[in-house]
Amino acid sequence: MNVADAIRKRYSCREYHDRQIEQEKLDTIIEAARLAPSAKNLQDWRFVIITKKETRQMLVKAANNQQFLGQAAAIIVACSNSDHVMTCGQQIAPIDVAIALEHIALQATELGLATCWIGSFFPEKVRKILDIPSNINVIELMALGYPADQQPELKREPANNIACLEKWIF
Ligand SMILES: Cc1cc2nc3c(=O)[nH]c(=O)nc-3n(C[C@H](O)[C@H](O)[C@H](O)COP(=O)(O)O)c2cc1C
Repeated sequence: MNVADAIRKRYSCREYHDRQIEQEKLDTIIEAARLAPSAKNLQDWRFVIITKKETRQMLVKAANNQQFLGQAAAIIVACSNSDHVMTCGQQIAPIDVAIALEHIALQATELGLATCWIGSFFPEKVRKILDIPSNINVIELMALGYPADQQPELKREPANNIACLEKWIF
């Protein structure tokens, strides 16, 4: 699968098969995150991969009871130990983690897996469940598993609503 196909085939999957993910596939997915770019190449991301059913159920509760999260064979908890702010005023942690997570999502798609970003969760609850130290930011979760649904049609704005040439025209 080429990158363009993976981009088109990725979608937010909210129904998963009860099927374990092969260790080789998990390794390939983590490698995709490892190779992502980061500000100053700090690579300050940390990923905790949760596969135990009882821990996944605890994370469901920390994520507003989104039940599909408990169905997914794995939940990736993406953290950062950076509070660095760039000259542009933006924090690097959420940006770097987001890039790595989207690498994960696209790599997973190529491997026949599906993902869903999870921003609706309480970081302090996740921290407690996983013993994450107080100096580490829990940035985002991602469900990962074999899809049991079909990809819906992607609803997106036309290109000229979101991009323009040379000068701001919006
Ligand atoms: C940062 C971020 C947080 C999200 N959080 C959630 C979430 O908590 N629960 C959920 O079901 N979907 C979540 N989504 C998925 C979005 O709803 C989804 O990406 C969007 O509707 C576009 O659909 P698609 O991913 O299928 O293309 C999140 C997506 C992003 C990028």
